[in-house]
Amino acid sequence: MPKKYRIETFGCQMNVHDSERMAGLLDRAGYEPATSDRDADVIVINTCSVREHAEAKLYTRLGQIRVLGQETGKAPVVAVAGCVAQQEGHSLLARTNGRVIDVVVGTQQVKMLPMLLDRAAHSAHSEVNTDSRDDVGFPLGVARRSDPVKAYVTIIEGCNDHCAFCVVPHTRGHERMRSKSDILAEVQEAADSGAREVQLLGQIVNHYQAPDDHLCDFAELLKRVNAICGIERIRFASPHPRHTGIRLIEAIRDLPKVCKHIHLPLQSGSSRVLRTMRRRHTAEEYLKLVNRIREAIPNVTLSTDIIIGFPGETSEDFNQTLSLVEEVRYHSVFSFKYSVRPNTLASQRLPDDISADEKTARIVALQSLQRKIQLELHGQLVGTTLGVLVDQASKRHDGEVAGRTTGNTIVNFPIPQGGKPEDWIGRTVRVTIKRAGPNSLRGEAMGTEVR
Ligand code: SAH
Ligand code: F3S
Repeated sequence: MPKKYRIETFGCQMNVHDSERMAGLLDRAGYEPATSDRDADVIVINTCSVREHAEAKLYTRLGQIRVLGQETGKAPVVAVAGCVAQQEGHSLLARTNGRVIDVVVGTQQVKMLPMLLDRAAHSAHSEVNTDSRDDVGFPLGVARRSDPVKAYVTIIEGCNDHCAFCVVPHTRGHERMRSKSDILAEVQEAADSGAREVQLLGQIVNHYQAPDDHLCDFAELLKRVNAICGIERIRFASPHPRHTGIRLIEAIRDLPKVCKHIHLPLQSGSSRVLRTMRRRHTAEEYLKLVNRIREAIPNVTLSTDIIIGFPGETSEDFNQTLSLVEEVRYHSVFSFKYSVRPNTLASQRLPDDISADEKTARIVALQSLQRKIQLELHGQLVGTTLGVLVDQASKRHDGEVAGRTTGNTIVNFPIPQGGKPEDWIGRTVRVTIKRAGPNSLRGEAMGTEVR
């Protein structure tokens, strides 16, 4: 009987993609996906440590797995992967009281997972490998892609920026670029196996410089990916405002497959806070960039990340964030309460001095402003007809499918003439928008496929 595995993923697209790679490796090692916890011989928890809350989830899950083991009398092999594994290493074992965890595998050692599981199964000790040496050159074709439409492709691992709040440089190491030839081969392979959208991943994607072609920067890479047959849409996450120059803006404008949506992390609308965060740009420079982007690509949509309650953030600083959000009118905002992360500059030098209540009040104010803006922006789309790449059956309504516009807005619509969701997934459909909510749109398929 083949052993069965289950992988649980917390955190960002990078983690989702690492889980896809782990699944691909386990498939090749002869494992099969499990259908439930009870069924699983191996449970991999791929953790996130970007925010405090994300880490707490690991401990909750470990507790649940232990209880389940007591109930069923069968203890699955438990592996902890991802950023918490990289950050805590051996100390996770001490904290969770020994053999609750059988394997700890760091972010740069994903390819060692099958071997570590095997060793742990035959040993009295837990296996730990958090070596931070290069894991960028992983073999092609390994990922078991979890999304039928969208393929994640890593172009850069790690980050050298050391923003004061951020744990990523400690959990994913220094910045390393993947070769252009590896990236293009992986995109081609994804296209050949049916992916319609590719999402290029890196902490600062627009810092890309191909190690195997000195003329290939990020704008050039977009051109090369744009030329790959079978791919209809290209997205990327995330660019840094500091490296977003006119060449890149023009590439986004001119390349037909590149979605007209840019996720441009802001973090704060106060230049004073941005300085203590070490973001290396001011709020004014950010706004200038937004204007430059909008002049070049009038229909572009923008989204962002914002941290509220960073050490020393006054009400005046926070009001500047609110004004900037009003001015830019983002299509979506990911907002986070600041939390102290180990080994970061802020944790060593800046007291976490904004009270929990104040953080809550600020995030609520930001989110309600953003909700109002989203409703207005979505309302303006009612009556228009947009190209929607269908990526899943609707979670809420039978007989409906959901997809995204080039601007990254979710659109739900009923399947015409009683078709099945599978027939629509992966197709780009013209949809006339009938209703707008704060988080998504509803429409009616016009039946014409856009290519
Ligand atoms: N380079 C990545 C950022 C990764 S972290 C990118 O540009 O997308 C993702 C987001 O988490 C950050 O943009 C930030 O808004 C948030 N974040 C990071 N560290 C945080 C912390 N200590 N507290 C709260 N939010 C944080
Ligand atoms: Fe983190 Fe700043 Fe790099 S947010 S990933 S240190 S650009």
